[in-house]
Amino acid sequence: SAMNKELNKLLATAPPGQQEKVRKEFDSFENLFARFLRESGPSVEWEKLKLLAPDAVKKYTALEGPATAEIKTLLSQLVVIKLNGGLGTSMGCTGPKSAIQVRNELTFLDLNVQQIEHLNKVYGVDVPLVLMNSFNTDEDTHKILRKYSQIKVSIHTFNQSRYPRINRDTLMPMARSFSESDEGWYPPGHGDVYYSLYNSGLLDKFIKEGKKYVFISNIDNMGATVDLNILNFLLNPANTPAPEFLMEVTDKTRADVKGGTLIEYEGKLRLLEFAQVPSDHVDEFKSVSKFKIFNTNNLWISLEAIKRNVEEATLHMEIIVNPKTLENGMNVVQLETAVGAAIKSFENAVGINVPRSRFLPVKTTSDLLIVMSNLYAMKTGALEMSPKRSFPSVPLVKLGHQFSKVKDFLKRFASIPDLIELDHLTVAGDVNFGKNVSLRGTVIIIANHGEKIDIPMGSILENKIVSGNLRI
Ligand code: UTP
Repeated sequence: SAMNKELNKLLATAPPGQQEKVRKEFDSFENLFARFLRESGPSVEWEKLKLLAPDAVKKYTALEGPATAEIKTLLSQLVVIKLNGGLGTSMGCTGPKSAIQVRNELTFLDLNVQQIEHLNKVYGVDVPLVLMNSFNTDEDTHKILRKYSQIKVSIHTFNQSRYPRINRDTLMPMARSFSESDEGWYPPGHGDVYYSLYNSGLLDKFIKEGKKYVFISNIDNMGATVDLNILNFLLNPANTPAPEFLMEVTDKTRADVKGGTLIEYEGKLRLLEFAQVPSDHVDEFKSVSKFKIFNTNNLWISLEAIKRNVEEATLHMEIIVNPKTLENGMNVVQLETAVGAAIKSFENAVGINVPRSRFLPVKTTSDLLIVMSNLYAMKTGALEMSPKRSFPSVPLVKLGHQFSKVKDFLKRFASIPDLIELDHLTVAGDVNFGKNVSLRGTVIIIANHGEKIDIPMGSILENKIVSGNLRI
């Protein structure tokens, strides 16, 4: 095919030492591209979709904790992978998202290393921390990791694939040569983890060492810590056989209506993503009462099952078509996959409904404000909600676009306000906060165009609307 010809040309520009690796990547890319051309229309038939039976998703509280004497044995069978291929662009940062400082000048990456260091110390184990990097994040990640060369955590990294972006008009690759590191290439989503882990040789290494499960999660999810009750459930299942795939889901609120949900389809658990929903069923999909839970992307997967699926080519993930306009104005598409979509390729898959505290992602500076605040205390790399908060939910925070870059966000807060009693905060326009401000109840601050609002040092705003010269 024409695509194949172009890929061969591209392959010829790769250094000899990398030809084989690149060929493997291109083979996978070509498969994805062929599927993209072949499969049109929605990937689910709505009529065939079944809501989950009430007991199909297990309650976290029904899981039993392991006996203390067993914890070491359990942990010795675990590998932790953090998905670290993504950039911090949505928060105005150029490097890896994991290089953003979250607390006490520590980055996501630092906090994740500290968590595993602590786990290993407490239980006298050596759980490896594995990072899936992309060509976008690998170099900066290694710079941050340098300071950890002396500590007792086995840190491994592997790179996910690099695929050529596709010109939307010609359907031909954008990249002209292998060495080009600009907009011609992209990391194809976290569904790539299965193949990349396998191709890196790490999968086999861990299996040989006696590891059984991998815990995979987004590196920016501060709630995704190693959970011993879930690990115990996987390795000591009360009702055999053991699940090959466990997805942590949590109750949907109106803020999460777009999150992927679990359904039953052709007799198996399946992840239903927003993008797959036919347009006449979108409202139904968003309903909190019909689809009650969503995927946290905290996943526990059997290593042997990953190996089998890769070797037998039985992994199936829906294609996510991501259209983009590049800086040069070119319209491209990039074909991606999501790690959770492979749930249907695994036997005895289960969902566990976990507490919301296991889902604490930082996607925007509004999320960042919350995790930087006194709502949380940091304990050995993990965030714990302050006991001073009288109810367990997190406030709803909406900061305007003047705050959306981390740099601007930090400039606008002389110090992070006290949020312990906050329910809802909306800030829009040119607003600056002095030191030691307390925000309580519902606070709305709106500076209209051309106006500037400075919240004085030490202010206590409780159930207040502040807007230009209107003060209520
Ligand atoms: P994002 O933060 O980009 O995705 O990635 P999202 O849309 O909010 O969440 P999902 O996709 O629904 O889960 C989530 C995690 O996946 C990593 C990012 O670094 C982040 O930790 N990621 C994303 C990769 O490792 N590779 C990719 O190609 C994309």
